[in-house]
Amino acid sequence: MRRYSSFILVVALVLAASLLWGASALAQEGGDDEQLQLGAQIYAANCAVCHGANGEGRVGATLAKDWPSIRPELATRATIVNGVPGSPMPAWSEANGGPLSDEEIDAVVYYILSWQTGGAPQVTPLPSATPLALLSPVPGVEGDPNRGAALFAYNCEVCHGEGGVGRIGAPLAKVWPSVRPDLAIKNTISNGVEGSPMPAWSKENGGPLTEQEINDLTAYVLSLAEGVHPPATETPEAPSGLAWLSGWGGVLLTVLLFVLLLVASQFLQRRKTG
Ligand code: HEC
Ligand code: HEC
Repeated sequence: MRRYSSFILVVALVLAASLLWGASALAQEGGDDEQLQLGAQIYAANCAVCHGANGEGRVGATLAKDWPSIRPELATRATIVNGVPGSPMPAWSEANGGPLSDEEIDAVVYYILSWQTGGAPQVTPLPSATPLALLSPVPGVEGDPNRGAALFAYNCEVCHGEGGVGRIGAPLAKVWPSVRPDLAIKNTISNGVEGSPMPAWSKENGGPLTEQEINDLTAYVLSLAEGVHPPATETPEAPSGLAWLSGWGGVLLTVLLFVLLLVASQFLQRRKTG
């Protein structure tokens, strides 16, 4: 039994070491390609919503262009770090309360400037195809929350977070204290919030979205509230006296039991041999 378990330990150690070694080798070999790939991911997740998937411009400025600057990387970096106050361009650096680290900003600058040459390497971001559960329509609201979910992922998640939990933008997964929350939400989406990073999205306001798309988004945003307060038809789970077992309490208990077992087996063995 002893020999068997030490054999397992050795195998596990060797496996872990080779995994670590493989990972570090990969990280070294990546180099520029890796920075470009990282930049592309960050761009797709944070910037494409306003600047277009290939920097062609949308709510935000065109970025696929020749930069009339001797050190364009400094100018673009400064804009990304600090944002453009008074415009929808947010500040992205962690130092300014944004979500991106210095390394991530360097990567996205590198990626954006790679468009300058025209023949930029096309890096397609890895698809993140997670099948979504179907949402049920919100009573009394025009618009399809399922179409809204796709629009939200592309246009709003960057600021409002996955599922509307909030990020640079306000949390949206909440209960709306309004008689007709659909009208209030639709209004905010169409017109934006002046003086905040929330852009105006309707075509009338120079945004990219049609009225139907804004209705779909409104239905989706309202459906987020259901996740916050489960419908009353569901019987709430009775608080179980053993709930603490599922968290750290459970881990602690397992470790304690394990130690006890070890001590007991040692004790028994000593009695047998002694
Ligand atoms: C909510 C929309 C929005 C998002 C999201 C956004 N931008 Fe911007 N961005 C703008 C707008 C609008 C401008 C133009 C600001 C101005 O000068 O009035 C701009 C300007 C810029 C400029 C300067 C362009 C120039 O010609 O000087 C750069 C560079 C830039 N953005 C990069 C980024 C990067 C990188 C990201 C993602 C990390 C990003 N932006 C995300 C809206 C956005
Ligand atoms: C560049 C960041 C950004 C993007 C992109 C963005 N929002 Fe916002 N949004 C904000 C901010 C910031 C606020 C809070 C404004 C305030 O009241 O100061 C806000 C507010 C809102 C509100 C009102 C919240 C409340 O509590 O009243 C709604 C609704 C909303 N956004 C929906 C959307 C939808 C839908 C999209 C996508 C079409 C979107 N937003 C895209 C930044 C953003």
